[in-house]
Amino acid sequence: KGFTCGAEPSVVSSITREETEMADAGQESSDWSPRCATGQPETTHRLQHAERDTSSRRSKSIFTPLEQQVIQLKQQHKDALLAVECGYKYRFFGEDAEIAAKELNIVCHLDHNFMTCSIPTHRLFVHVRRLVSHGHKVGVVKQTETSAIKASGANRNTLFTRQLSALYTKSTLVGEDVNPVCRLGDVEEGGCDDVVSDPPDSFLLCISENWDKLKKQLTVGLVAVQPSTGDVLLDCFPDGPSRSELECRVLKINPVEILVPSDLSEQTERLLHSITNASAQADDRVRVERRDSAEFEFASAMNTVTSFYCHIQAKGVVASLESPVISCLGPLIQYLQEFNLERVLRSESSFRRLTCESEIMTLSAGTLRNLEILNNQTDGSVKGSLLWVLDHTRTPFGRRLMRKWVSQPLTDLQSISERQDAVQEILESDSLTLNSIRSLLSRLPDLERGICSIYHKKSSTQEFYLISSSLSRLGLELQTLQPAMRSQISSGLLRSLLLDTPDQLIPAQSFLKVLNEKAAKSGNKTELFSDLSGFPVLQERMEQIQTVLREIQDHRKDIRLILKAPALEYTTVSGQEFLIEVKNSGSSIVPPEWVKISSTKAVSRYHSPFLVDRYKKLQQLREQLMLDCQREWTNFLDQFGEHYHTMKRAISHLATMDCLFSLAEVAKQGDYCRPEVCDNKHQITIRDGRHPAIDLLMGEHNQYVPNHTELQGDGRRTMIITGPNMGGKSSYIRQVALICVMAQMGSYVPASAACVGILDATVCHLHCL
Ligand SMILES: Nc1ncnc2c1ncn2[C@@H]1O[C@H](COP(=O)(O)OP(=O)(O)O)[C@@H](O)[C@H]1O
Ligand SMILES: [Mg+2]
Repeated sequence: KGFTCGAEPSVVSSITREETEMADAGQESSDWSPRCATGQPETTHRLQHAERDTSSRRSKSIFTPLEQQVIQLKQQHKDALLAVECGYKYRFFGEDAEIAAKELNIVCHLDHNFMTCSIPTHRLFVHVRRLVSHGHKVGVVKQTETSAIKASGANRNTLFTRQLSALYTKSTLVGEDVNPVCRLGDVEEGGCDDVVSDPPDSFLLCISENWDKLKKQLTVGLVAVQPSTGDVLLDCFPDGPSRSELECRVLKINPVEILVPSDLSEQTERLLHSITNASAQADDRVRVERRDSAEFEFASAMNTVTSFYCHIQAKGVVASLESPVISCLGPLIQYLQEFNLERVLRSESSFRRLTCESEIMTLSAGTLRNLEILNNQTDGSVKGSLLWVLDHTRTPFGRRLMRKWVSQPLTDLQSISERQDAVQEILESDSLTLNSIRSLLSRLPDLERGICSIYHKKSSTQEFYLISSSLSRLGLELQTLQPAMRSQISSGLLRSLLLDTPDQLIPAQSFLKVLNEKAAKSGNKTELFSDLSGFPVLQERMEQIQTVLREIQDHRKDIRLILKAPALEYTTVSGQEFLIEVKNSGSSIVPPEWVKISSTKAVSRYHSPFLVDRYKKLQQLREQLMLDCQREWTNFLDQFGEHYHTMKRAISHLATMDCLFSLAEVAKQGDYCRPEVCDNKHQITIRDGRHPAIDLLMGEHNQYVPNHTELQGDGRRTMIITGPNMGGKSSYIRQVALICVMAQMGSYVPASAACVGILDATVCHLHCL
């Protein structure tokens, strides 16, 4: 009511009678969305109604005010399914409702002009995650006004204002709406089953193609970012028509979402197609977002990049990036800005080159697949892969790092030996210190994602408490272990990882100290800060509230006099506070101007005019306090963000520790040996080698038959393996390659002895072997 329709009459005339009738028949409900099959702009459909309407009641819209608000929001976010907060529910409208109903398996029905379906507020995260996992982009629209403050304002009779509060896709599931730390206990027990579990990595990959007409050469630029952890990977490389270089990188990054220009080349399009169809289930299919190709053009991308980095030192590093990389960075910044997640791109210190040819062994896409390094080839799962054999990590961040280690074996002898020494020390030492460190790593929440969600200022009080208390506990416990570490640990790598870490974690304590544990755990922001001395605004607001409360308490005297009830106290019934309860038998003395709030057979409950006024004031102040607290909370998170980079480094040290412990666990199982890795010899000598995965899959009873290998650069350089079908030829070839990969990761290998030279690359083509 009182809401004017925004329809432009000029367009109205172009709508045919027929369409209007269709709309009348109730079919319009699914048509208003821009995603409709006919591709008609949404306004046309909106206006069908307007026309029907102008013919009868000229000035009024047939859309409810809420519907008009939704139409406007939808127009700004055409490609997202909008979940709109309406009281205690979130509702979907129109075609969004039909899609949501289908994906979420809930009922949708026609309400006024649109199909609609709804989900309860406390289940929002479950449903948003489900929609996102099916590849949708979901927008959460929240009410931006609260009732008491609104009731006091000039716009008290209009609709609640609503705004898009966040957008989510597969790679951008960051924030308290989608990551509620369920109950703290659940996390300690290892997760809550209700929540769709996150894949270990969720990279957003942006690809640009640059064709050099003169040289007839394609250069591909690539930037991958993981908004939930803050990892950024860059690369720039020439590629051929089969796009095998790009494919290899996509396999390693394993993105959940890919950002491409709308005018992608046919060959890349084909690769993209094979990637997105690699998985049969919609849940783990890669999402593709196509953006305007103009965003990818160098000039416009460079514009975006320079204005984004204009105030910081990163400019130097950014300026040195190759132009194909800039062409990715620009659109990526623009895209992440829509999600308010662009902060992860701010600091160039988190930028990593994906390939530094000199430092890691080259493994092509085909080789990664054929050797089953990350996934098996039977059903694409991790079981049976090399990763499966080696991954005994205990933390989510350790698990992510292990995936990196397996697909990027080292080529630098010193780094390899450092890891080997660390693994050997863990394996052989019976020091209690190492044991205690290992047990500290179990049952940790995902600290890496946690601090990143704080950095984005999107974390809930529960999550913040969990993360900062874990960090500070870790810091303290590692600190007490420090003297023992100094005396007992000799591996250089272990020492460097462990000795600085406690100091880097200690800042978490000062944040934790300010918090009131109970309020933080229950998400109550108004009592969150136990000491208000640093928050003058909150202090003042609290005092105002106290004053009103005192006035209300003082008012009891007057009431007691009027009712001649000297011991009268206020009561609270179903959320209504400060009620004056009077027996119905004695209600004759109640002054006529008192407002009756509720009653039962025996009693009636009133507010005096003074109470009505003060209670209203109190509620406004309380809502105001909520807003103030929210603002202070965001500031607080911002301050924590200053420690983000140090803490991230500390957590990456812990991740490395976790991986080393994991490799030690592998080495512990029977018949593994520390391979001798040598820089100067070209050779692969393996005694009693076994295929790490088949060996493990067979278990103890079906002993894998060990094999020797003897290859030298200046001796026997080649082997030709022949034999009957199912004779073990493929397994043998893979076994040799896998042992070399493991050796260069710093791991022990399944053999009785091994001596391998450092390989720059491993190539494995298996065609029906
Ligand atoms: N050394 C071995 N000891 C025991 N079983 C093996 C060995 N090598 C391979 N196998 C098993 O034998 C089967 C055939 O191996 P595969 O390498 O595919 O043979 P081929 O390539 O010669 O046809 C596989 O199931 C594998 O697990
Ligand atoms: Mg074979």
